[in-house]
Amino acid sequence: MPRIRIEPLGSIIEANQHESVMEAAERHGLFWPVGCARNGECTNCAMEVLSGLSRMTGMGRYERSNLIRQRGPRATDDARLRLACQARVLGDVVVYKRGVDPL
Ligand code: FES
Repeated sequence: MPRIRIEPLGSIIEANQHESVMEAAERHGLFWPVGCARNGECTNCAMEVLSGLSRMTGMGRYERSNLIRQRGPRATDDARLRLACQARVLGDVVVYKRGVDPL
């Protein structure tokens, strides 16, 4: 079962294969900043992947285009910026997102 370490909170949670980072966090009672219906539109859930990028599903066209639309043309230059509602885990990862807190 993949494990997700969420910094700077310091929480480690278990995720199901192909579960999104946000789904796993919410299932474990964590608040994750959102601004849409968790469908990749708002980019408020964006996180930095500190390690394990290759153990996540790749970025799709929809995620990429919304990151660029919301955050500017260079938003996807750094592949570590991912949407927590879209990135699905395949193995252990470490992510960084301010504002993630226990509910
Ligand atoms: S919650 Fe809106 S893009 Fe992820």
